[in-house]
Amino acid sequence: MKTRLSLQDLVKSKFEDHLFVVVSNREPYVHEWAGDKIKCVIPASGLVTALDPVMISCGGTWIAHGSGSADRDVVDEHDIVQVPPENPRYRLRRVWLTKEEENGYYYGFSNEAIWPLCHVAYTRPSFNQTDWEAYRQVNRKFAEVTAQEIGDRKALVFVQDYQLALLPRYMKERNPDVIVAQFWHIPWPNPEVMRICPWQEEILQGLLSNDLLGFQIRYYSDNFLHTVNACLECMVDWETNEVHRQGMKTTVQAFPISVDFENISSESRQARVTHEMERVRRQFGLTGEIVGLSIDRIDYTKGMPDRLRSIERFFEKYPEYLRRVVFVQVAASSRIHIGSYRRLHAEVDNLIEKINWRYSSGNWKPLVYLRENTSQLTIAALRRMARLCMVSSLHDGMNLVAKEFVASRFDEDGVLIISPFTGAARELTGALIANPYATDQMAETIREAIEMNIKERRTRMRRMRAEVEENNIYKWAEDITSTILKLDSGRSP
Ligand code: G6P
Repeated sequence: MKTRLSLQDLVKSKFEDHLFVVVSNREPYVHEWAGDKIKCVIPASGLVTALDPVMISCGGTWIAHGSGSADRDVVDEHDIVQVPPENPRYRLRRVWLTKEEENGYYYGFSNEAIWPLCHVAYTRPSFNQTDWEAYRQVNRKFAEVTAQEIGDRKALVFVQDYQLALLPRYMKERNPDVIVAQFWHIPWPNPEVMRICPWQEEILQGLLSNDLLGFQIRYYSDNFLHTVNACLECMVDWETNEVHRQGMKTTVQAFPISVDFENISSESRQARVTHEMERVRRQFGLTGEIVGLSIDRIDYTKGMPDRLRSIERFFEKYPEYLRRVVFVQVAASSRIHIGSYRRLHAEVDNLIEKINWRYSSGNWKPLVYLRENTSQLTIAALRRMARLCMVSSLHDGMNLVAKEFVASRFDEDGVLIISPFTGAARELTGALIANPYATDQMAETIREAIEMNIKERRTRMRRMRAEVEENNIYKWAEDITSTILKLDSGRSP
């Protein structure tokens, strides 16, 4: 079993003389003003959930956009803040963006072009020249800050996700000796879909400047290889999953990302979680109802309206469950300046209001909506209270909410319903699979989950816990690190 310590040993022994640098758009800790106080918030991001334990284990520097209203007030003169705040283990270097840069690079190109392009969720991507220029400019800015951080030391730079596809190229142009690896957290579509991006070539060139490029599942890394094969002059070695181009070589492989199983499992056992369960029950007047739980960032890829419609259908078909089952939706918003997100917020609000109006009676209502600011403690309590957890993404690179749910159920109870269009559905063999587009099928799956006996719940949960325990976040990080070590790049790290 891979652990925090085994990862630490591997990195220390093999990359001792290297600086370890993670670069992402989203930062792991955001400082916000709340009245006249500063609070530190952990953003809703699978990338952060996965990478923070890795950084706590390895140390090093994480470079990311300083997006919080109080971020500038807590950094030192080098724009550094030590994190986690309560027990600092690594450095967070903040990159400042102007409103125009954030608008074009983050809201525009990253989230109105690449995000909908890579997710088959039927939201049309829009490609805007000014956004693209901003994307380039900000990727250059991240490269400059990274180069400053590294100085003339040896470094392993681990770039995260689709907001920084050009960064590897800018890094290598400055310093060809630096080892650059990148992990693409979201799906990679087939070549036909990718073709519509007017700057696909430059994006691919950026990604092929990596020594190693990781995807969540084999299907996405294969899609990537087919895309470069169709679009660029290069040689794809299908045996070794390598792309050779202009004297450079990129290894392309799948590394399914995960969570810190041990930590989530032991945190979940704590007495303060049990107390919080009691408090939550009192707050929402839950008196023995079966709890269904969903936790999402409000995003059109997560299939929230589809799930709500299937819950409505469930009560329509099985009214005997009225007053006996309550669904709790925990949601966090991001990207709210984008029209499609604002429309989704309104759609979700309306559906919840409509379903609660239709089915509520007395002080019982079928849906509890916790929008924004739900603490980690309350989430931990809800995970333990839930008989079923529903993940209904229309398309999702992995989905760590599902793995967190499994990791938290040390009592080996609870049913996971998961969409087949998530990376996680391929690994979690004890889950019930339900297609979010098929409302009736999903309603039936809810009934099946509720009626499943304890013996079967245990068998399925045990199987999933073994899967997540074995394939935990430290294994993910060690697999990537070991692959970098094996790369036949002529250097000796
Ligand atoms: C996905 C992406 C991450 C991103 C997260 C939250 O998980 O893969 O890169 O951080 O969504 O989105 P946001 O735009 O709020 O960072």
